[in-house]
Amino acid sequence: MIADAGPGSRILCEEGHAFDVARPGYVSLLTGSGGAGTADTAAMVADRVDFLAAGHYAPIADLIAELAREADARVPDDACVVDLGAGTGYYLARVLDSIESAAGESGTAPRVGVALDISKHAARHAAKAHPRIGAIVADAWAGLPLRGRAASVVLNVFAPRNAREMRRVVHPAGRAVVVVPEPEHLGELIAEYGLMAVDERKGDRLREQFGGRFEVVDEVPLGRRLELSAREVAQVIGMGPNAWHAEVGRVVEGAEVTVAVRAYVLAPR
Ligand SMILES: C[S@@+](CC[C@H](N)C(=O)[O-])C[C@H]1O[C@@H](n2cnc3c(N)ncnc32)[C@H](O)[C@@H]1O
Repeated sequence: MIADAGPGSRILCEEGHAFDVARPGYVSLLTGSGGAGTADTAAMVADRVDFLAAGHYAPIADLIAELAREADARVPDDACVVDLGAGTGYYLARVLDSIESAAGESGTAPRVGVALDISKHAARHAAKAHPRIGAIVADAWAGLPLRGRAASVVLNVFAPRNAREMRRVVHPAGRAVVVVPEPEHLGELIAEYGLMAVDERKGDRLREQFGGRFEVVDEVPLGRRLELSAREVAQVIGMGPNAWHAEVGRVVEGAEVTVAVRAYVLAPR
């Protein structure tokens, strides 16, 4: 439904509710006063767009694309790829390209992607990140505006994880691909700029969070060292939750930093 609707058109639900497609190409399903204070601001999204465009996290995108392509191939039916807390759509776009090249000449209809984020600034970018992305502004903690079993893959990269809804929307043969930071991620910047430390028990908490609904079938750590300019240090701080707390304005020099993340592949129980 979303994929067919362009800016200026309206989307109708079965009960007759109408939602306008905003000019930048996303649909907002937020009701009431506009949602959680966790939505990325325009400034955070601008930092994320610039930082990702420089390719610093391309190895993370490559890993996600590979894991998602394998997971998607398990679902022969019509399905979409969903990204919860999709941000600018950077990872979802890479995944859609990777699935398409794997499908090659098989004649199957290309997968569409659904980028869901509570930030309209993020959704505006996600809507343009790939021709087959439909972007929705919605709260990942509420019921997701998706049919049960609709997704071959549910992505979740550094974003809120609603295990119950992820389980409902993933196809029984599909997978969730969840990426979280490791404790040493951006460690050099934590002490220097007062960033929030990554929870040492993040992996355990993830297993607790998903345990009843998903089983971890694969996990892949990824580590890199990055040489960042002062501007890029400010961007990598400013594009994440540290933007609210850290002393971003104090950044005057570049740094060599550690990137350390772990990708989990989860199978629905
Ligand atoms: C750290 S960013 C990660 C974005 C993207 N996955 C990436 O890695 O580039 C977290 C994203 O989650 C979104 N977010 C925060 N709370 C949310 C919620 N309750 N529902 C949906 N999205 C949310 C933010 O707006 C932001 O885009």
